[in-house]
Amino acid sequence: MKIGIIGAGNMGTGLGKFWAKNGHKLMFSYSRSPEKLKAAAESVGLGVQVGTPSEAVQFADVVVLSIAWAAVEDALQQAGSLDGKIVFSCVNALLPDMSGLAVGTTTSAAEEIAKLIPKARLVEAMPLFAEVLHAPSQQLSGQTPSVFYCGDDTEAKAIVADLLRETGCDPIDAGPLRNARYIEPAGMLLVQLAYAQQMGPVAMKLLH
Ligand SMILES: NC(=O)c1ccc[n+]([C@@H]2O[C@H](COP(=O)([O-])OP(=O)(O)OC[C@H]3O[C@@H](n4cnc5c(N)ncnc54)[C@H](OP(=O)(O)O)[C@@H]3O)[C@@H](O)[C@H]2O)c1
Repeated sequence: MKIGIIGAGNMGTGLGKFWAKNGHKLMFSYSRSPEKLKAAAESVGLGVQVGTPSEAVQFADVVVLSIAWAAVEDALQQAGSLDGKIVFSCVNALLPDMSGLAVGTTTSAAEEIAKLIPKARLVEAMPLFAEVLHAPSQQLSGQTPSVFYCGDDTEAKAIVADLLRETGCDPIDAGPLRNARYIEPAGMLLVQLAYAQQMGPVAMKLLH
């Protein structure tokens, strides 16, 4: 599969390294520094290309949005048309100082993104923390963590679930895109536990 990644920071590279290892073709895009983008691609290796956001969209079967909330509008403008594309967003609407969420419980980053790209086949998930993705093992307390994903397009969700599984988690279908308004605050809880409560890398496990 060809995966165009918009935002090659901790999350973009953390996810990308699994997919590149598994034989997917990647293109990284969207940085304020061409050198940083090139270094991100080289850190993953395995022939990862770099391009502009619109080149990444043209290239991709699946477009990944892994950018800061504040950069979403600009990145989507640079991306061009996403009509009909599978778009996997892992954007949480974190305030820049991580003290809270800009939106949540009545809407979500994903639902706001859907308004900007209404014809994209949007799926959202809050993947494992980047620290966990970049660690030698993604297991915590000897267990495979759960990652919740949601969306309104069944086929797109199945494709994103397979990509998530490749990153060392157990993907859980959390229903329609609207449920992103609950998934994102749960991500914020993990941020609080990891940093404010100083628990270090944490993740969730669904028991039922
Ligand atoms: N990290 C995690 O564990 C985690 C977990 C769940 C969800 N998320 C979500 O994933 C998204 C990406 O997080 P991250 O940790 O990968 O962040 P990050 O390391 O800061 O990466 C953000 C990326 O966006 C690019 N970017 C370009 N223009 C930007 C601008 N104007 N402002 C900010 N960034 C800009 C950055 O490139 P340059 O800096 O090179 O310009 C960088 O490649 C966020 O929405 C976050 O909430 C992260």
